Amino acid sequence: MTKRHKITVIGAGNVGATCAHWLVAKELGDVVVIDIMDGIPQGKSLDLYEATPVARVDARVTGANDYAPAADSDVVIITAGLARKPGMSRDDLLTKNSQIVRSVTEQVVQVAPNAILIVVSNPLDAMAYVALKASGLPRERVIGMAGVLDTARYRSFLAEAIGVSVKDIQALVLGGHGDTMVPLLSCTTVAGIPITKFIAPDRLAEIVQRTRDGGIEIVNYLKTGSAYYAPSAAAVEMAEAVLKDQKRLLPCAAYLEGEYGFRDIYLGLPVILGAGGIERIVEVDLTKDEKAALTRSAEHVQQTLKVIEA
Ligand code: NAI
Ligand code: 2OP
Repeated sequence: MTKRHKITVIGAGNVGATCAHWLVAKELGDVVVIDIMDGIPQGKSLDLYEATPVARVDARVTGANDYAPAADSDVVIITAGLARKPGMSRDDLLTKNSQIVRSVTEQVVQVAPNAILIVVSNPLDAMAYVALKASGLPRERVIGMAGVLDTARYRSFLAEAIGVSVKDIQALVLGGHGDTMVPLLSCTTVAGIPITKFIAPDRLAEIVQRTRDGGIEIVNYLKTGSAYYAPSAAAVEMAEAVLKDQKRLLPCAAYLEGEYGFRDIYLGLPVILGAGGIERIVEVDLTKDEKAALTRSAEHVQQTLKVIEA
C-alpha cells in the first residue's frame, strides 16, 4: 500500500499559500504550511482544506508555526522571506532573506531529513546556496526555482505574439534569476520548428527583454508585492516531477561542481528532475553569445554570494 506524499511549504504568504493551493488542486499529497505569523498558516490551511470536497480531492492541509507537522516530508518548498516592493532589486533582499532561509532550512531538515528542498525565496540563486549549506544535504536534493518561471513567462509572451498554443512553445531560460537571465534562442521552437520562422528578430528581442523584466512588470502593477500565481505554479511543477519521479527536463537552479565551467555557485541550467531530485545536469551546446551571457550571469551570482559570505 502506498502512502500519500507529504509536502511542506514554508511561508504562508502569496507564493506559499498559492503553492499549497496548486498542490491540493493537483492532489499531490497532504500539505503542511508553516509561517511565523500566528494564525495565518492555520487559517489559510483550514480554508483550503474546506475547499477539498468541492474540488473533489483528498488532501489534508495543516497550518503551523512550528516544524513538528513537517516530520518526514517528501518535498519542502521554501518561500519564507520578504518579497520585492517597487524600487527594490532582488539583491536588496539578500541579507534579511539569508537569515530567514538559513533558519527555516536548519529547522526543517531536523524533522524531514530525507526531503528534497525546492527554494523559491529571493535572491534565488543565493538563497538556494544558503539552503544547501544550512541543510548539509547533497546538492541533488536542494534545487532552486527560477528557470521554470522565467521560461513560462517567455513561452507565454511568445505564444501570444505568434498566435499559437502555449503548449507548443518549447524554450529554455538559463542563468541566474535576475536581469542577467539567458533565454536560449537556439532552444526556442514552436513544436520543434525554429522560432525564427515565426517571428522577426526585433520582435523576438523585445520579448526576450520583457522576459528579463517579467518580475518587475508584475511588481509595478501590484505595488505591494511581487508575482505569485506563475511562481507557485512553477515550484509545484518541480515538486510534481520529484513526487511522481517524472524525469522532467526543466531549467532549475543547480549547485555546480564544474558543469559548464562553473563551480561553487547555483545557476539555472537544464536538469533532469525525478525522485532523486536533480538526477542529471544536462550540458547543451551553447553559442558563443549564449556562453558569454551565462558567464556574465554567473559572475553576478558570485558577487551576490560574496555579500553573504562577507
Ligand atoms: P510574502 O511576503 O507574501 O510571504 C512571505 C511569508 O514568509 C510571510 O507570510 C512571512 O510571514 C513569512 N516568513 C518570514 N520569515 C519567516 C520565517 N522565519 N519562517 C517562516 N515564515 C517566514 O512574499 P511572497 O510573495 O510569498 O514571496 C516569498 C519569497 O519568494 C520572496 O523572497 C520573493 O522575492 C520570492 N519569489 C521568488 C520567485 C522566484 O522566481 N524564485 C518568484 C516570486 C517570489
Ligand atoms: C519574480 O520574478 C519577484 O523573482 C520574482 O516575479
